[in-house]
Amino acid sequence: MNKLRVLLLGGGGREHAIAWKIAQSEMLDQLFVAPGNGGTKQIATNLSFSETDFEALKVALLDHKIDLVVVGPEAPLVRGVREFIEGDASINHVKIVGPGKEGAQLEGSKSFSKQFMERHNIPTARFGEFEASQLEDAVLFLDTFNPPYVLKADGLAAGKGVLIIDDKQKAADALKEMLVDGKFGEAGSKVVIEEFLSGIELSVFVLTDGKSYVILPEAKDYKRIGEGDKGLNTGGMGSISPVSFAKGEFMSKVEERVIKPTVNGLAKEGIPYNGFMFIGLMNVDGDPQVIEYNCRMGDPETESVMPRIKSDFLRVLWNCGKGEIAGSELVIDDRTAACVMLVSGGYPESYEKGKEIKGLDKVEHTLVFHAGTKEENGGIITSGGRVIAFTSLEESLEGALSKTYSTLSNIKFDKMYYRKDIGFDLK
Ligand code: AMP
Ligand code: GLY
Repeated sequence: MNKLRVLLLGGGGREHAIAWKIAQSEMLDQLFVAPGNGGTKQIATNLSFSETDFEALKVALLDHKIDLVVVGPEAPLVRGVREFIEGDASINHVKIVGPGKEGAQLEGSKSFSKQFMERHNIPTARFGEFEASQLEDAVLFLDTFNPPYVLKADGLAAGKGVLIIDDKQKAADALKEMLVDGKFGEAGSKVVIEEFLSGIELSVFVLTDGKSYVILPEAKDYKRIGEGDKGLNTGGMGSISPVSFAKGEFMSKVEERVIKPTVNGLAKEGIPYNGFMFIGLMNVDGDPQVIEYNCRMGDPETESVMPRIKSDFLRVLWNCGKGEIAGSELVIDDRTAACVMLVSGGYPESYEKGKEIKGLDKVEHTLVFHAGTKEENGGIITSGGRVIAFTSLEESLEGALSKTYSTLSNIKFDKMYYRKDIGFDLK
């Protein structure tokens, strides 16, 4: 077989980790990443167009004779990158890993995903949904729950669309801000109100061609900026894989109650789905409840998931893209991966960019995944809030964490910040 020419869309730590894994494949001819970052530049060819610029994508597919497109983030999927490629005779021979617009609604619309789960009996929090004309009903519906109240903007709101509020009056005010005052714009014109679930969260990842699936290593991410899971929500401050409670009976429940009904439910409804599926779960007293679906991998979960995949991952991606994932084998490393993300001081609020990152040349035996970096005058500088992730793989969680943290102690940039308690709840 001819070797594969692959284009990966995206430019975060997740994409660096996926690119790193693909770059090891015996099946690879050449790897391109658009737009990529300072890390992907070291292992692939960066193309300087945005992941949602479909016209530029078409030119790149033709110019570089691409066989397979792997989509990292959700935005191109929700905007229909699959339909764009499939609908153009000059590029529709290219295989894609990433669902079409309709499948991407599992992430793009909370209302769609909640109703989908209801139709297929997939365990999830009790909910109701309301539009602007139903503000009064929405406020009354709050009375059917105990606090805290969980309010979710229906559409994509850059990860900020979920509010968890203790006080009922404040929840009612927030409903008005979302539904009537347009706090999240169009994304908040419909709101899902749901029961608060207590438990430990877990991210489960599946790669499916819509008929069969493989389950990738699971991970736990740490979303809050502060230690002890306090403070503002971020894109993710670190991740651990595997997750101690995600084995045996619990994972069988996840597969039987969530993964199978989701893949089968999509097929039954005639919604083609080819790509990653990220299932955000809460372990509520040993039973999985779905918090959300995403149509992509998690970030920074991917930075601890990819290092645990021993098999040739490009082979599995290629089989998936062709709709032939059945029987694909995935060999997983038993060791624990611990990933810690360095961020710019001030993030997730305002922060400065353009700081030189020092010490990267001294890193050994720890994987480095760039998120918001770029290369300038031969050095690497910061270009985003989440800057760079470090992942170590060791026999024990403690060993992996201690290696990651000792590596970090040699890295410096102005106003650098990271959480020192990643994995604290799994020890
Ligand atoms: P999402 O944007 O859907 O990922 O939600 C953001 C975060 O809010 C999740 O990762 C959970 O920590 C939390 N969350 C969402 N829904 C619930 C719920 N029903 N009960 C408890 N926490 C929730
Ligand atoms: N780490 C959570 C996410 O990627 O949405």
